[in-house]
Amino acid sequence: MNTSNPTVTPKTSALEVERFSPNIGAIVKGVDMCQPASAPVAEELRRLLVEHKVLFLRDQHIDRAQFVAFGHSLGTPQRFPFVPATKDQPEVIRVHFHDQRPPRLNAWHADDSWRPAPALATMLIAKKLPSCGGDTLFANMEKAYDGLNNGLRNIVDAHNGIHCIRYFSHIMRKRQLPESSITETEKRFPPTMHPLAKPHPVSGNKALFANKAFTTGIEGMSESESQLVLEELFRQAWIPEYQCRFQWEVGSVAIWDNYSSQHYPVADYFPEERLMERMSIIL
Ligand code: SIN
Repeated sequence: MNTSNPTVTPKTSALEVERFSPNIGAIVKGVDMCQPASAPVAEELRRLLVEHKVLFLRDQHIDRAQFVAFGHSLGTPQRFPFVPATKDQPEVIRVHFHDQRPPRLNAWHADDSWRPAPALATMLIAKKLPSCGGDTLFANMEKAYDGLNNGLRNIVDAHNGIHCIRYFSHIMRKRQLPESSITETEKRFPPTMHPLAKPHPVSGNKALFANKAFTTGIEGMSESESQLVLEELFRQAWIPEYQCRFQWEVGSVAIWDNYSSQHYPVADYFPEERLMERMSIIL
């Protein structure tokens, strides 16, 4: 296994970039999120994001308005319809679990794949952390595509996956919301289709685009055939060689690419508290 961790020379001299693991992730130093990114820094961060799939920035002790302003300097923040937004910054949601609200979301997923055009980036900042645990795993889904055997590759190259909000419907049901409002929400966000081998909108590289949380079927296949293939595709994100595991500190920020990666927040810290703030950004 390659354990070297060379510093990558960035185009913008103020930034220092180190690979975080051989196949995914980079630590970026020299960014102060107290201020929006300048145009050259924003451009460099967007380039690095496409290259490394997830960027990690430490020690960003910023308030919510600064977080949002930084997001605006990278692209266009997008509101999230399934969790109430923070009152002061409608683009930001809290991902908050504690003894009265056990952690969930612990399934491999790409954010917003249920949208016809998912936001390319998600930005997450750690506000409160458990004494240990609560890491997030990331998987490089371009590697996952490249590593498919020929049989699966042929299927993936020829089919669309069906993505839907079933996961959120399930949560709404658990919260005992009226069935009529769940149906209404499902009508607002109908199932959408993406190629199972989805070319990245910037690099053009194909990534395996099927995730356990939101991909519920394969166009043109029976339910049982779809499920067999999907289970095999979901398992690709589990391959450790495609992954990295990020250990958060308060003030750590991760920015990830939803087209070329998936992530899995590890729900091992109950009943302790973990509070993160999250924003999706169209780049
Ligand atoms: C998410 O899945 O969007 C949140 C990830 C995390 O809390 O680590």
